[in-house]
Amino acid sequence: MSVYEEIISARDQALSSIQNVADLSNLVDLEPALFGKKSTLGSLKGLMGKLDASERASVGQALNQAQKEVQEAHQQSKKHFLEHERTLQLSAEGIDLTETLRNPNHRGHLHLVTQTMERLEDVFVGMGFTVSEGPQAESDWYNFEALNLPEAHVARSMFDTLYLDLGERTEIGDGEGGEATKFLLRTHTSPVQIRVMESQEPPIYTVCPGRVFRRDTADASHMPVFHQIEGLVIDEGISFTDLAGTLNDFTSAYFGGAIKSRLRPSYFPFTEPSAEFDITCVICEGSGCQTCQRTGWIELGGCGMVHPNVLRNCGIDSEQWTGFAFGFGIDRLALMRHGIKDLRDMYTNDVRFLSQF
Ligand code: DAH
Repeated sequence: MSVYEEIISARDQALSSIQNVADLSNLVDLEPALFGKKSTLGSLKGLMGKLDASERASVGQALNQAQKEVQEAHQQSKKHFLEHERTLQLSAEGIDLTETLRNPNHRGHLHLVTQTMERLEDVFVGMGFTVSEGPQAESDWYNFEALNLPEAHVARSMFDTLYLDLGERTEIGDGEGGEATKFLLRTHTSPVQIRVMESQEPPIYTVCPGRVFRRDTADASHMPVFHQIEGLVIDEGISFTDLAGTLNDFTSAYFGGAIKSRLRPSYFPFTEPSAEFDITCVICEGSGCQTCQRTGWIELGGCGMVHPNVLRNCGIDSEQWTGFAFGFGIDRLALMRHGIKDLRDMYTNDVRFLSQF
């Protein structure tokens, strides 16, 4: 066999072994036999020194050509296997999103908490309120200071706060950040009161629904992330009876005429006087059951007359304007209304649970 025939035969052998490879790891195993010193083409290269000078150039050229063909076939094969592996991986990890198309009668719907939030907004809008929103990440000023809760205030311990590290920033959202350098996830919707009073002239009649955060471990009645709705009224001649009347009207409009509200004295730094408000137990309608611990009442939220310091912090003249505020949890409301035992069920997103509402 001439040296040229040997080169052709070595090339063909290499090409057919590439063709017979079953997967990428086989191909990698084959590489020394294709390109190594001891490969057939490699050992032919080793013979070059023994050739006549006249033959060396053309044999070298033939060898290079053969090697190039083997390299190209190897590259092709490698590309093919890589693409194949990727296709397999994608189809294994893929999620079939066509299910609802296959069953046109099955449609999703809003989450129970969103439904509750929207109904609350509807009722308040029907009573003449606007809806306001604010950022979920807040500065210490909006969440605490402006609400008459200075740094050392004992009432800060009511709120298990999650602080944020925002580096050098001194402001959040489009309001004034003041001197604040500390940032946090808002622990209540009350900071939205401040943002509204800062940006709007009284009279103000608004509700502020939204997501709030506390450093709490999830259990049947607590979640680290939950929802509140805040109400704020600022006008001339607003008194405590307006607060009591508004809450009572809201309660009947939302739950139906049989459900009333009552106030109990309490304390919040941002209101004076402050109260907690209860509503007739929605399960037993006041006759006493397990949910209301046989009292006929369930606690809904806090309220009071906006503290003059809070008005002053927002540049509102507390001699001319007075107002009230209230706030309560939305998740708990939905929980009670539907007799749900465990708050966590609302967030594990099991369709069998969600589809009931
Ligand atoms: N922000 C209070 C909380 O999260 C609830 C609250 C109490 C809101 C009294 C108010 C209020 O507007 O006047 O516990």
